[in-house]
Amino acid sequence: MKIAFVGKGGSGKTSLSSLFIRHVAGRGVPVTAVDADINQHLGVALGLEEEQAAAVPPLGGHLALIKEYLRGENPRIGSAEEMIKTTPPGAGSRLVRLDEGNPVFDACARTVGLGGATSARLLVTGPFTADDLGVACYHSKTGAVELLLNHLVDGRDEYVVVDMTAGSDSFASGMFTRFDMTFLVAEPTRKGVSVYRQYREYARDYGVALRVIGNKVQGPDDVAFLRAQVGDDLLVTLGHSDWVRALERGESRPFEALEESNRRALAALHATADAAYERRDWERYTQQMVHFHLKNAASWGNERTGTDLAAQVDPAFVLRETSGAGRGASPQLA
Ligand SMILES: Nc1ncnc2c1ncn2[C@@H]1O[C@H](COP(=O)(O)OP(=O)(O)OP(=O)(O)O)[C@@H](O)[C@H]1O
Ligand SMILES: [Mg+2]
Repeated sequence: MKIAFVGKGGSGKTSLSSLFIRHVAGRGVPVTAVDADINQHLGVALGLEEEQAAAVPPLGGHLALIKEYLRGENPRIGSAEEMIKTTPPGAGSRLVRLDEGNPVFDACARTVGLGGATSARLLVTGPFTADDLGVACYHSKTGAVELLLNHLVDGRDEYVVVDMTAGSDSFASGMFTRFDMTFLVAEPTRKGVSVYRQYREYARDYGVALRVIGNKVQGPDDVAFLRAQVGDDLLVTLGHSDWVRALERGESRPFEALEESNRRALAALHATADAAYERRDWERYTQQMVHFHLKNAASWGNERTGTDLAAQVDPAFVLRETSGAGRGASPQLA
């Protein structure tokens, strides 16, 4: 299951992603956590020391390796240089499974202990620089994540949780369509809600499942505001959490000590994410990646690579859980 946490800066994306990751991992479900946010804080929110978090090798720094690996034997992709972030898999491409090792995980993934026997696999895009933002979308660090998501054949009881920006880049590249469920974190403010409105417009056009998580809610007026602005898209609300605050002070409390109401909220998120499995449609998923690839090819990719990137599309290919070679026996983290 691919789950995104998006929202306005400072709304609580990283905090809630990290709580959700702990919750899901605590249920024995293998979790891959991906930090694709401008501010790279997920590692620390999962309990790493700053130096440990900074030492996680960034996906953005291994783009050549990622492209070379995913390209595999796909005859439609002449070289890794001709692969852009939206290049879709086709016959011969290497697909990624969460329960199988691969050179990308070997190079970049780190296992983060979450207390007891619980852990998650962590991947990070790397810190963003001024070059990554704005019009130069092909510089985007999230390109590595997009390529991985487009080559990922994930099953029901394995989670990828991405902490990401709700930026225009994810709309242009189509990254926002790559998730079974998108949780938009919104504070009960007009700005918080305006990010939701923008996201909803894109989401609607592409059938993206979007639910709002109200955060830092202080009372009934806040809940009423969110309900009035967001309607039925509002899934749960979380109030101030002393547990999250303590984490911010560098104190690690056992996850069991998280407030009961917030634990219930996380259980609701998990149930909602799980339920999204039934609505999976791999054909539509594949069509959407082709759609965004053709768009990106025409707007900058063809010019940049000097090739006709539309020729990379394999018309007969549909990404599926059963694609490619046989499945590994049981889900486990590498
Ligand atoms: N429910 C909560 N209770 C207490 N503090 C919270 C809660 N949610 C978020 N915070 C605090 O608010 C601040 C911003 O949260 P967080 O870093 O998770 O937001 P973000 O959306 O990831 O921000 P950024 O856009 O900077 O990445 C942090 O100091 C965090 O500890
Ligand atoms: Mg963050």
